[in-house]
Amino acid sequence: MTSPIRITFAPLTTDALATTEGRIAIFVTEDGKMDIGARKVNTLSRKAIDRLVASDRFAKLGTGDLAEITWPVGVAAEALLVVKLPRRATAEEHRKAGASIAKALGKGDLTILAAAVNKPEDLAFGIAMRAYVFEDHKTGDKTTYGTVTVMVKDADETTAAYAPLAAVAEGTFFTRDLVNAPANILTTTSFAEKLNDLSALGVTVEVLEEADLEKLGMGSLLCVGQGSDSPSKVVVMQWNGGGDEAPFAFVGKGVVFDTGGISIKPAAGMEDMTMDMGGAGVVAGVMKTLALRKAKANVVGLVGLVENMPSGNAVRPGDIVTSMKGDTIEVINTDAEGRLVLADVLWYAQERFKPTGVINLATLTGAIIIALGHENAGVFSNSDELSNKLLKAAANEGEGAWRMPMGPAYDAMLKSAKADMKNVGGRDGGSITAAQFLRRFIQDDMPWCHIDIAGTAQTKSDTALAPKGATGWGVMALNRLIADNYEA
Ligand code: BES
Ligand code: MN
Ligand code: ZN
Repeated sequence: MTSPIRITFAPLTTDALATTEGRIAIFVTEDGKMDIGARKVNTLSRKAIDRLVASDRFAKLGTGDLAEITWPVGVAAEALLVVKLPRRATAEEHRKAGASIAKALGKGDLTILAAAVNKPEDLAFGIAMRAYVFEDHKTGDKTTYGTVTVMVKDADETTAAYAPLAAVAEGTFFTRDLVNAPANILTTTSFAEKLNDLSALGVTVEVLEEADLEKLGMGSLLCVGQGSDSPSKVVVMQWNGGGDEAPFAFVGKGVVFDTGGISIKPAAGMEDMTMDMGGAGVVAGVMKTLALRKAKANVVGLVGLVENMPSGNAVRPGDIVTSMKGDTIEVINTDAEGRLVLADVLWYAQERFKPTGVINLATLTGAIIIALGHENAGVFSNSDELSNKLLKAAANEGEGAWRMPMGPAYDAMLKSAKADMKNVGGRDGGSITAAQFLRRFIQDDMPWCHIDIAGTAQTKSDTALAPKGATGWGVMALNRLIADNYEA
């Protein structure tokens, strides 16, 4: 498990700056203003900072970017990290500045002079989020960082303000580790075990096994995993930090590996399908965050864990299965498996918990990547109110999310000659027909959003707060959604 680096907050002392070893980060506004600590370093280093600020290099820096002065004279530090940050910077800009600092972290200690910084907790959050390295499966020396000390105006106040953000960083790291894990390590069984560990934080965790799922009539979910040697499971995680009100429900697609099944995928890039449990990974990360920060809300997280493999037992194109709801589904393409999993978990979540709203997350379609690339997740909803809350929470956290259309004409594309519906609607509007399929398993008047995170769960290049690979997209937004709308 990857843990976020520990960041300590301390009151500003300027006495020891000449002898402080490692790196020192300081902040300069666009017009060259700096705080008392930075001015001291500037004087000690024979105005190295003034000279940098007067240079073209500083002028070209964007907000939150930094320039490094290595081996400065007059101080013991090996480098000065000069960060450009306006006084009135937004939380997002503070986080970006933190991410810049994280990229410059080394084995030595880091002292950050942030007494004049407005949101030092967001700065620290940016450092923690960006300083993620997945090296569980690398032998040899692992990345290590020295201590990180942030000198602030009020250390107690900042420590308290940082605590809930540290919980978000931990939840996000949990998600990223799960998404990055290969499918021979993260099986349905080991995934369920990892979720079970959340009980140590006060989450009530139940694992429903195949026999339970059969009793419940989850023929749709079960057909997806029937070709795999790994048993299908549904894991239910309840966080009851609120009163006696009904919970909000998060539901995640947890396909630990998606070969496509009998409708097998091409070889090139198939290894990326280790991330096809990304929806379940986000649900797990959010539940961990809510528990760590002791959120005053009732939230239940449900994930369907399956592996989609071809074999002599695998579901075939043309097979007709019966969902827990009772509707029959003609499986035209075994690679459209995520919706088959979600159909039953969504139905079960509503029947059992009567939630006040449901949001499901899934790496559901390649088509959403064609539509939105890697910048925005696709949001599909039957409720303007809930989707607006979600879009607002995502925007406030700097996570891209874009509402997509739905409608009866798309739903009609799912008509089957032999069963109540088929599991694919053709290539056209592929993400939308997938959402229409899910909507058939949402009860009347239930506020619901489906978030297609196929493009955002994992990226081939760095994002604002994550190195390339698993991003943890959605943990911040969903945590914020709960904090802003469902907590007392
Ligand atoms: N897991 C895939 C979707 C996906 C594609 C996620 C690329 C991440 C990156 C999903 O199960 C799938 O195979 N969808 C098919 C649906 C089609 C058969 C209707 C797709 O998108 O091609
Ligand atoms: Mn698939
Ligand atoms: Zn899939």
